[in-house]
Amino acid sequence: VEKIFSGTVKDLSSQGLGVVVHPSGMTYFVTGAWPGDAGEFEITAQEKRFGFAKWHKQVDHSEDRTNVPCPHLGFEPGLCGGCPWMGIKYDKQLAYKQKNLSTLFNKNQIQMDLSDLQPSTRELGFRNRAQLKTDGQSVGYISPKTKTLAPIEDCVVLNDPTRDLLRFVRAQLPKKEWLPQGKFSWNFIDLDDELTIEDIEINKKRPFKQANSETNAYMKRWLEEQIKDIEPTTPVLELFCGSGNFTEVLGKKFFKITASEFAGNALENLKNKNIPSVTVFPADLFDHQSWKKLIRKTRDTKFLFLDPPREGFKDLSLFVGELPELEKIVYVACDPHRFVIDVKPLLSSGWSLKKVQPVDQFPHTPHVELMAVLTKEL
Ligand SMILES: C[S@@+](CC[C@H](N)C(=O)[O-])C[C@H]1O[C@@H](n2cnc3c(N)ncnc32)[C@H](O)[C@@H]1O
Repeated sequence: VEKIFSGTVKDLSSQGLGVVVHPSGMTYFVTGAWPGDAGEFEITAQEKRFGFAKWHKQVDHSEDRTNVPCPHLGFEPGLCGGCPWMGIKYDKQLAYKQKNLSTLFNKNQIQMDLSDLQPSTRELGFRNRAQLKTDGQSVGYISPKTKTLAPIEDCVVLNDPTRDLLRFVRAQLPKKEWLPQGKFSWNFIDLDDELTIEDIEINKKRPFKQANSETNAYMKRWLEEQIKDIEPTTPVLELFCGSGNFTEVLGKKFFKITASEFAGNALENLKNKNIPSVTVFPADLFDHQSWKKLIRKTRDTKFLFLDPPREGFKDLSLFVGELPELEKIVYVACDPHRFVIDVKPLLSSGWSLKKVQPVDQFPHTPHVELMAVLTKEL
C-alpha cells in the first residue's frame, strides 16, 4: 500500500476526524481535515479495516474554511492540536455537530427530536480556565497525539483574565523552579479566571469548573426550566456535584438535596456556598460499595440529577433500579456516546427520553455537551 496518497475528504467520523478513502478502498481518518479539503495524505497507523493518516500536502481547501486566528494550530510535534476545527466557519462546525448527534441517536435506534445545538456566545475568548504545562523554558499545551510540549505565546480561546494570567506566566520564563523533576517531562499550571497572580503555583490541581461561563449560565437556566413543575418537597439526589455549580440551582427550589462527589476540594467549595437544603455525601461513585452506602440514605429520591465526567456513569441503570420512588432524571453529559450507552438500558425498562438539548461549550473542537430529561412511564 502506498504510504502517501491523494484524496478528497468526503465526510467526518463520529469522533470528528476527516474521512478519506485510499485508492485501495481502505478508509483513513485524518485529524484537522474537513469535508471538501483535498491533497496528499500520509498513513500513520493501520488497523485491520481502517487506518489513520495525516496531512502531507493540502492542495484544495473546503469552502467551509476561513482564516485561522491562532499561530499555534497544527498537528505535528511542537504545534498545538487543541482546536482541530479552528479555521472552519462556526456555523458549519455547528451543523456537523448536530448531524453527528442525529447519526449517533439513529444508529442506536433512539427515536428523538433533538433540539437545535445551542451555540457558544463567543467563538473566541470563551474559556475561563486552562491547564498549561511547563518545562521551565517554555509554557504550552500537550497535544494528545504527539505527547510533546507545544509552546504557546498566546491562546485566543481563553477569556481576557485567563489570557492575562498566561502573559504573566510567560513573563517569568525561563524559570529554574519550574524545571521538571524525576521522571516528569513537565510541570502543570492550572489557570482559571478566578485566580490572581499570587495564587499561581505549579502542580496544584484546581477542582472541576465548567470552562465556558456563558454556556454554563445557559445550562443553569435550562435546568431551572426543567424543575419548574416539580414539587419543592421532592427528595433530590445529585451525583458528581463538583463544587456545586448546579447544586446552586437545585438549592433555590428544593428543601432536601443530597449531593455526592469524590473530590474533597470541590466538596469544600460546595460547603462554603452554605446552601441550607444540601447534605453532602462524599463517595467514589465508580465504586459499587461506596454508592450502595449512598443509596441506603437516599432511597426516597424522586428526582435524580447527574453530571458525570467523560467516562459517564456505567452503573446508571443499576443505580436507578435501587431507587423505587424515582420519577425523573436530568443527565448532563460531556460525551454523547457515553450518554447513549448509559441510558439505553433505561429506555428498555420503562423510562423514556423526553428532551435532549445539545450545547456547544467548545467551539473549534468536535466536543458536544448534552442535557437530557428522562421520565418513568407509569
Ligand atoms: C463534569 S464534572 C461536573 C461537576 C459539576 N456538576 C459542575 O458543573 O461543575 C464531573 C465531576 O465528577 C467528579 N467525579 C469524577 N469521578 C468521580 C467518581 N468516581 N466519584 C465521584 N465523583 C467523581 C469530578 O470530581 C467532577 O467534579
